[in-house]
Amino acid sequence: MAPLLAPSLLAADFGNLQSETQRLASSAADWLHCDIMDGRFVPNISFGIPVLQAIHRHAQQPLDVHLMIEEPQHYIAAFRDAGAANITVHYEACVHLHRVIQQIKALGCRAGVALNPHTPVSVLSDIAADLDLVCVMSVNPGFGGQSFIPNTLRKVAELKELLVDNGSEALIEIDGGVSLDNAGALVEAGADVLVAGSFVFNSADPVLTLANLRAHLTA
Ligand code: DX5
Ligand code: ZN
Repeated sequence: MAPLLAPSLLAADFGNLQSETQRLASSAADWLHCDIMDGRFVPNISFGIPVLQAIHRHAQQPLDVHLMIEEPQHYIAAFRDAGAANITVHYEACVHLHRVIQQIKALGCRAGVALNPHTPVSVLSDIAADLDLVCVMSVNPGFGGQSFIPNTLRKVAELKELLVDNGSEALIEIDGGVSLDNAGALVEAGADVLVAGSFVFNSADPVLTLANLRAHLTA
């Protein structure tokens, strides 16, 4: 499968979310990655449910919602209703991860789990078969524009093996510091979805940057 590209709107111009979302409609973006931060699970606050609703009104691609929040179980239905197609919760934020995953799936969304850089992939062995997506954080969550952690490549390969061993068809998503410098190696290691924020939106032409990334990966 060709890797999916998911630009992160965290790096978009929040003053112009309608046009930022609309200009991605005819781009190489497969999903729109939406970063929700609560100021507790991560030391930053981004945006919440009403803003996601607004993005959804103008989006052509499925919304890939990354919940960097504590106790996400209380908000799953609200995020689904706001337009989320995929809902990813953090392993580190869920005491009853299995229950939350079932909750997401019962609401008709793709269910994902994100792992912080220090969390080993082995913690997923008993839940891998239930997952639609595993998001490997390649930076510490909370901020865009950070440097890619090189250990991620090893982690992706290890996760790929774990998913195969457990009969899981979950997609492997990489989030943080993704650019042309590491995209090829990530896909080679087993990544299925690449999230890119600042690399896309801090460029002169985000649509062209996504096209270049796509071309680089299919070359
Ligand atoms: C970090 C977020 C990422 C972030 C990626 O907490 O989960 O999705 O927006 O941004 P870049 O690509 O700039 O690292
Ligand atoms: Zn994210």
